[in-house]
Amino acid sequence: MAEELTVESPAPGSQAAAWGDLQYDHRSSKVKVAPFDLWTSLRRECPVLHSDRYGGFWFVGRYEDVKRVMTEYENFSVTNGVTLPREPMLMLPLEVDPPLQRQYRAVLNPHLTPSEVLKYEDFARDLARTMLPREIRNGRIDLAHFGETFAHTVTMRALGFEGADLDRLDVWCGILFGPERDGDAGHRAGAELMEFIGLALDQRTGQAGPDDLLRAIANGEVDGRPLDRGEQLSLVVLLVFGGIHTTGAALTSALVWLADHPGDARRLRAQPDLMPTAVEEFVRYASPVSHMRRTTTRDVEIGGCPIGEGEAVQFGIASANHDETEFEAPDQVILDRRPNRHLGFGSGPHRCVGSHLGKLAVRVGLQEFLAAVSSFEIEDHESMTYFSSEGRAITHAPAFVVLA
Ligand code: HEM
Repeated sequence: MAEELTVESPAPGSQAAAWGDLQYDHRSSKVKVAPFDLWTSLRRECPVLHSDRYGGFWFVGRYEDVKRVMTEYENFSVTNGVTLPREPMLMLPLEVDPPLQRQYRAVLNPHLTPSEVLKYEDFARDLARTMLPREIRNGRIDLAHFGETFAHTVTMRALGFEGADLDRLDVWCGILFGPERDGDAGHRAGAELMEFIGLALDQRTGQAGPDDLLRAIANGEVDGRPLDRGEQLSLVVLLVFGGIHTTGAALTSALVWLADHPGDARRLRAQPDLMPTAVEEFVRYASPVSHMRRTTTRDVEIGGCPIGEGEAVQFGIASANHDETEFEAPDQVILDRRPNRHLGFGSGPHRCVGSHLGKLAVRVGLQEFLAAVSSFEIEDHESMTYFSSEGRAITHAPAFVVLA
C-alpha cells in the first residue's frame, strides 16, 4: 500500500518553496479520494514539482504542459515505460515511439474506427438490458459493478470473444480487478487469461473466420515480418486492460454524477441529442487515465524549470482536464460544454486508439440505464470506495433505484 500523502496548503505568496516537502504520489489516498484542491494549488503555485517516490520524477499538471509532454514525443519518450513504477510487461503500442509505434497501430486502427465500432452497438444494448434486471436487486445497485462489468464485456466482444468465452473472461476480470488481484488467485487468473488469449490467437492464425481484432493481431505484421507471439499478447493485453477499466470508470463516474444531479439525468432523457457532448464531458470530468509518464531524451525546460536528460516526467491528465485556465467551472459537468478540448483520451501519437469504442460503451450504458430507471440516488457517499494509480476509478457506489 502506498504511503499516505500529507499536505498542508502553503500560505499565499510562499509559493513553490513550501511545496518542497511534498512527495507527490499518484497512489496515495489523497489523490485517490479528493485530489482536486491539491491539483488546483499545484497548478497555481508549483506547476513543476519534484517527488522522490519511485526513483524520483517530475510532476506537471497544467493543461498546456501536459499537452506538450504528450505531443512532443521527440523530447518525451515512452521507451522507459509509461507508468511509475514501470510495468513488468511491455505494453504495445504504448511503449514504443513513432515511427515504429505507427506500424503497431496500423494493425489495430481499421477495427476501431467510428463506423466499425457501431457493429457492437446492438450487442451493447442487449447486454445492458439483460444485465440491469440482474444488477438491480431489491431496489439497489452497485453502479461501479454495473459500469465495470458492462464495459469489460463490450470491450471483449469488440476484440472478438463471444458467447460462453465472455462469461469465462468475466470471472478472470472480476479477480484481476478485485481485492484478490495481488494474491495467488490473481496470479492464477493472470496466467489462465494469457493461456486463453494465446489459444484464441492460435485459432485465428492464417485460418478463415470472423474478421475481428484478434485475427488482425494474429496475422499482423511490422517491418515486413509477422508479429511474434510476445508482441501479439502485448497488443491484446493492452487492449483489454486499456479498454476495460477506463471505460468502466467513465461510465461509473457519469452514473454517480447523474445520481447526485437528477436535473441532469432528466435533461439527458428529455434531450437525447445531448448525449455525444455529454459523453465527452463525462470523460473529461472523470479522466479515467489520470497520470502517465514519459522520459526526457534531452535537457528540456517546462514552465521555466530545467529538467535534465533521462528524467521521468509524470503528467496529470486529470489535473489538466480540471485546469480553470482552459475549462470554465472545471469541477462541474456541463452536459453541452463547447468547446471541450479535453485530454481524457490523450493527445499526440499515442492518443487513444479505442476512444470510439469507449464512447460507444459509455453512451449505450447511460442510455439504457436512464431508460430502465426513473430515479436513483447514492445510498451513502461515505461508503463509496476509490482506486488510484495511473488510472482513477470509483470502485464501489451503492445506489437506491426506482425502476421506470
Ligand atoms: C473512456 C474510455 C477510455 C479512456 C479515457 C482512454 C484513455 C486513454 C489515454 C489517455 C491514452 C493515452 C495514454 C498515453 O499517452 O500515455 C490511451 C491510449 C490507448 N488506449 Fe485508451 N482509453 C479508453 C478506452 C479504450 C478502449 C476501449 C481501448 C481498447 C479497445 C483502449 C486502448 C488504448 C490503447 C491500445 C492505447 C495506446 C495507443 C498508442 O500507444 O498508440 N482505450 N487511452
